Amino acid sequence: MFGKKKQVPQIDKDQLELIENAQKRIKQKKRLYAHFVVFLIGSLFLILLNLGLGFGKGVTLFETDWFVYAILAWLFLFLYHVFNVFITHKFMGKSWEQNQLDKLVAKQKERIEILKDKHIEDAPKKALPKPKNTNLTIIVAVGENDAIGKDNKLIWHLSDDLKHFKSLTNGHHIIMGRKTFESFPKPLPNRTHVVITRQANYQVPEGIIIVNSLEDAIDASKSDTQPFIIGGGEIYKQAMAIANKIELTRVHEDFEADTFFPKIDYSQWKEVNTILHKKDENHKYDFSFITYTRK
Ligand SMILES: NC(=O)c1ccc[n+]([C@@H]2O[C@H](COP(=O)([O-])OP(=O)(O)OC[C@H]3O[C@@H](n4cnc5c(N)ncnc54)[C@H](OP(=O)(O)O)[C@@H]3O)[C@@H](O)[C@H]2O)c1
Repeated sequence: MFGKKKQVPQIDKDQLELIENAQKRIKQKKRLYAHFVVFLIGSLFLILLNLGLGFGKGVTLFETDWFVYAILAWLFLFLYHVFNVFITHKFMGKSWEQNQLDKLVAKQKERIEILKDKHIEDAPKKALPKPKNTNLTIIVAVGENDAIGKDNKLIWHLSDDLKHFKSLTNGHHIIMGRKTFESFPKPLPNRTHVVITRQANYQVPEGIIIVNSLEDAIDASKSDTQPFIIGGGEIYKQAMAIANKIELTRVHEDFEADTFFPKIDYSQWKEVNTILHKKDENHKYDFSFITYTRK
C-alpha cells in the first residue's frame, strides 16, 4: 500500500513517431552499407572470373573487357541507392513534415487567439456602452477546447443543437459578423439578420440589416427584447463584455479549429441550467446545453 509507485515511461505520439522514423532510417543505412559490401565483393568476383578464371575472355566492347561494364552498371545502381537514401528519402518524409507544419500553424493560431483575447481584455473600458436590451444573449456551440469553427464552417453536425438554436432564436434579431453571415447558404427564415462589417458597400439580399459596429448592431435590434449574438469568434469576443446571458452548447470533445470562443470568466458568469444530451445514432458526440447569466 505504501510501496513505491512504479514509474511508467510516458511516450507521446510525436516521440513514438520520431523513434519509428529513426528506426526506419537506421534500417535504410544498414541496407546501403550491405549493398556497398556486396558491391565490393561482387566486383572483385567479376574481375577474378574474367582475369583469373578466363570466363568470357575476349568478350570486349570498344577494347574494354565486359566485366568493366558490369562493374560500372552496378556502380550506377549503387549510386542510385545512395541518392535514394540521402536525397529522396528525407529523414522524416514529406507527410511527417506537413503534419508538423499543420500542428505548428494550429498552435500559432491558438496563441494569436489568446493574444487577441488579452488585447480585448486590456483595451480601455470605454469600448462599448451597456446595451439597452436587458436580454442580450450570446448563443454558441463550442468544443471542450473552445473550438467553434474551421475554414469558415461549423465543425460538427448535431441536429438537436440546430433545433435548439432555431427554437431559441426564432422571431428574433440575430447579430453576426460578416464571415458568419457568409458561411450560411442562405439567410435563416423568420429571423432579422444584423450583419456587422467594416466594409462601406457590402451588398446583401433585401431585408438584411448592415451595420459597421457591434454598438450599431445592438442599436438596430433595440425593438427586440431578446436579440441574439450568433457569432463568430471576433464578434463573440467583443460581445462578452456586454451580453447578459450565454446559451452555450458544450460539445464534449476536442476539435481542430481556427476559430475559438473566448474563455468564460466564471467570476462574472454563473451557470443556471444544464441539460446533458448523450451521443446516439444521430449525434456523434455527447453535448450539454448550458445557460449562464451574468453575476
Ligand atoms: N460554433 C458556433 O456556434 C459558431 C457560431 C457562429 C460562427 N461560427 C464559426 O466562426 C467562424 C467565423 O468567425 P470569425 O471570427 O472568423 O468571423 P466573424 O466574427 O463571423 O466575422 C468577422 C468579421 O466581422 C466584421 N467585424 C468584426 N468586428 C467588427 C467591428 N467591431 N466593427 C465592424 N465590423 C466588424 C469584419 O467584417 P469585414 O471583414 O467585412 O469588415 C470581420 O472580418 C466560422 O468558422 C463559423 O462557422 C461558429
